[in-house]
Amino acid sequence: MPRPAIIAIVLLSLVGGAVGAWLSLPPSAANAGSAPFAGSWDPADPRLGEKAYVMCQGCHGADGRGVPGYAPALAASRWLTGPPEAAALIVLHGFDSTSEPGSAYVSSRMLGHGRQLTDAEIAALLTHARASWGNQAPAIAAGAVSAMRSRFSSRSAPWSPAELRAITR
Ligand code: HEC
Repeated sequence: MPRPAIIAIVLLSLVGGAVGAWLSLPPSAANAGSAPFAGSWDPADPRLGEKAYVMCQGCHGADGRGVPGYAPALAASRWLTGPPEAAALIVLHGFDSTSEPGSAYVSSRMLGHGRQLTDAEIAALLTHARASWGNQAPAIAAGAVSAMRSRFSSRSAPWSPAELRAITR
């Protein structure tokens, strides 16, 4: 093979490699700042909780009031402002109170967000929500979320109120 051809092949494979690497960037890096993927936000940002709450506000509202008949309010929510373990598990795996007699939200359940959010993001957004819209519950540390994620690592189904009560009793 003539030399220029070899050089051309080497150059092409180098460019191809670079393009390939760019195309296979993890979504969090490719969409940093805009898309909801775990690690999308700067963990050192003091407004991390407020920003990551974007994952919740489509259903629970920017004002924490929810959508009547669809998603409950987070303002004055006992599940949000109660034991940190329950709040963390609801975000990690979801919540299903449809079987609970007297539940106001029998029409839909909430799916988990554990794959889209890091433990630090979950702790920050919960801390934000627990101190907003009149809520006055203490902050949640990332370690508390990590503990729940590893203790229930094989869990994927949304939690029922009865299950959460048993865990936090
Ligand atoms: C796609 C819509 C949707 C999204 C997004 C969503 N939720 Fe929910 N959430 C629901 C629904 C519906 C329920 C009620 C489920 C039930 O009672 O069966 C709920 C219930 C809850 C509850 C229990 C409230 C109560 O007092 O009954 C908490 C706490 C909560 N969500 C927190 C969050 C947080 C924090 C986020 C963001 C990480 C979030 N949710 C994202 C739909 C959503």
